[in-house]
Parts: sequence; structure tokens; C-alpha cells
Amino acid sequence: MRFAPTDMGFIADPYRDYDELRRSAPVVYDEATDHWLISRYADVDALLRDRRFGRTYLHTTTHEDMGRPAPPEWHRPFWDLINAGILDMEPPDHTRVRRLVAKAFTPRFVESLRPRVHAIFEGLLEGVAGAGEFDLLPTLAEPLPVIVIAQMLGVPEADHHLLRPWSADIVKMYELNPSEPAQHDAVRASLEFSGYLRELARERRAAPGDDLISGLVHVIDEGDTLTEDELVGTCVLLLNAGHEATVNATLLGWWTLFRHPDRLRQLRADPSLLPTAIEELLRFQTPLPMFERWVLEPFELHGVQIPRGAELGLLFDSANRDPDVFDEPDDLRLDRRPNPHLTFGAGIHFCLGAPLGRMELQISFGTMLERFPSLELVEEPRFRPNYIIRGLEGLQVHT
Ligand code: HEM
Repeated sequence: MRFAPTDMGFIADPYRDYDELRRSAPVVYDEATDHWLISRYADVDALLRDRRFGRTYLHTTTHEDMGRPAPPEWHRPFWDLINAGILDMEPPDHTRVRRLVAKAFTPRFVESLRPRVHAIFEGLLEGVAGAGEFDLLPTLAEPLPVIVIAQMLGVPEADHHLLRPWSADIVKMYELNPSEPAQHDAVRASLEFSGYLRELARERRAAPGDDLISGLVHVIDEGDTLTEDELVGTCVLLLNAGHEATVNATLLGWWTLFRHPDRLRQLRADPSLLPTAIEELLRFQTPLPMFERWVLEPFELHGVQIPRGAELGLLFDSANRDPDVFDEPDDLRLDRRPNPHLTFGAGIHFCLGAPLGRMELQISFGTMLERFPSLELVEEPRFRPNYIIRGLEGLQVHT
């Protein structure tokens, strides 16, 4: 079996190796990453919904008791920030804080933002009007989700440029075996970002607006349902999660369409395929290919004993190509229905921003297909050397 998350060939095209894993080693220990890899759809889906596994174990026990080294003391600003965001909380804290922010992300509320998201995208398109050739990443793919989530939270426009670099530095810590400089970048960015948000929350307390941060500050002031640390941790999470994957999904999606010219023609000829096409693109190239879970009590899967304290690597990207669930999984079918891909996860941590991410992708792909009827790829893109947050360095296109 080959699981080589640092190998550029594997990052770009892991699918044959995933096939092999699903067939012959659906549960296997990978020494290099110290992860137990789970590659079949049914297992990934079931484990995500099973409370015997956690995004963290600190709600039940200590590092020592779990047989895990505590992170070095200098990582503390990073972990304090991450552990105060809902993604790294477990119930009951997770339930309490998720409920507070969930209202801003319901499909209905998100749908009401559609005209505004459209207008933002139109504004960005003006920036590339007449350009002929441009890189999709800095012009359209990156700014759209950053501006949308920043406006929802109430981050002033003059500060939007700070968000992407902070996020990019923080997520470096999520990669498997991050380098020492990457760890330093993540810690520094955590300090800067949380300091910035604490200050912004204070300003909103003095002069509230109709944004999410003002709403959460009000919740803190009302009683004891949210702490300031949780506000900061969850807002940083929303700002980061609110764009990282959408940016990568946009580039991976267009790259996939360029590699399947017949499908691109099909979509151009029939724009009503857009909603199912977006789902299929999200399945076909998964921007977040692996999520981890801690094993809170020993368990057995396919005859393999997995000890308490082990870390699971749930291979979403492999699950999304499982032939037991998807007919001809390596075939890009823009009208695939049903399409129960796991790209947004499952269970209690199911992506809070899924309706928003979907809408942003529908608007950006739909508008570009219409506006640039002969958009072409200029040169083959390169993957960034990351596995956990998987994406392209850029995507040079010609109108
Ligand atoms: C294509 C875009 C996106 C993808 C592929 C994606 C994927 C995911 C996945 C897989 C999870 C679950 C992780 C786990 O179970 O360990 C998740 C959680 C989350 N996502 Fe997204 N996401 C996307 C866009 C967004 C957007 C636009 C937002 C904006 C708010 C967002 C906010 C969140 C939050 C807050 C969580 C944590 C939920 C919780 O722990 O309860 N995501 N996302």
C-alpha cells in the first residue's frame, strides 16, 4: 500500500493508491504519519457519526492519560485559539456554541445573501474585464469567499487583506508533520489574528452593527452562554474555514472541467446542470481530502484492533471514489444523482458553511460560464505541496 502525502505525484493523483487501499487494506496503520487510515465510504461515514471518536480528547481526558505528548508550551497561542473554535469542541460545548452561530448559516438566510454575493462577484469581474489572460486565483477565486465571510462577520474592508495571510499561516499547523518555520508562522498568526478580533469585538461592543460579531458580543453581554475566547476562536474559524476550501474548490473545479472538455461543453450547453455539476466537482476533486479523529475507546474494524489514543485519518477523497456508493466513480458525471459525497463531512461537525460554499460556487461558476463562453486553460497548473489543505498554486486562463 502507498500513502505518500508528501509526494507531489500522490498529492496530484492519489486515486489508484486509494483504490488499492479500499480493496486490500481498508483499515491500516501508517507509521510515517502515525495515523490509522480508513478508506471506504461506509466506514468514514459511520465513524464521523460515532461519538467514540472525537476531534479532540481534551473534553474527556488529558494528554498524559491518552498516552500523547502535550504540545510544546510555545504552541499555546495556537491551541488556545483552535480549541476555542467549534470545529475542535465536542458536546456539550460544541452544541451550545454551534447553536449560537448556526442561525447565520441556515440555507434560508444564506439564500437571502444571493444578490449581494452576485454583486460582489460582478465587481470582481470588472477587475479582469479585457484582461485576455489572467490567474483565476488572486482575481476571482480568492477574493469572493474572503469578502463574503468578512462582510458577514463585520470585518472592515480596509482590513480584508490581513485575513488571507493569517489564515494561510494558521492552517500550516494542520499539515502532517509541519516544519519548524511553519509552526512558528502558525503561532505568530494565531496571536495576531486573535488580538485583532478581540479589539474588533470591543469596538463592536461600543458601536454595534448588524454583523455576526456584534450579535455574538451581545450574546456574551446577555449572560453566560458564550465566552470571549469562544467568540474569538469561532470567528477565526469562520473566517478561515469560510474561504480556504472554497478557494481550492474553485480552482480544482475549473481544472477538472478543462480536463474534461466534453463535460465543459455539456455544462455550457445546459446551465440547468449547474447545481448537480458543482456537487460532482466537489466529489471528484476533494479540497480537504483527510480529516482526523481521536479514538476515545478501543475498537475493532474489519478484524483490526485499534487502541485508545490512536489517531484516525479518514480519507474523504477515497470515500468519494468508492464504487460501492458511486457508480463509475472515476467518471465525471455532471448530472450525478444522488451524490452523497462526504466533501462537507457528516455528523455533528458537518460543515456549517456548506450552504454558503455551495452558493458561492454556483454563482462564480455560473457567471463565468456565461461571461466567458470560450474560457481556456493556458498552462497545466501545479499543486501546492500540501495534503490536508489541497489546492493548486494558481490557474492561468484565457478568455
Ligand atoms: C467548498 C467549501 C467547503 C468545504 C469543502 C468544507 C468542508 C468542511 C468539512 C469537511 C468540515 C467538517 C470537518 C470535520 O468533520 O472534521 C467542515 C466544518 C466546518 N466548516 Fe466548512 N467547508 C467549506 C466551506 C465553508 C464555508 C464557506 C464556511 C463558512 C462559514 C465553513 C465553515 C465551517 C465550520 C464553522 C465548520 C465546523 C463545524 C463544526 O465543527 O460544527 N466551511 N467544513
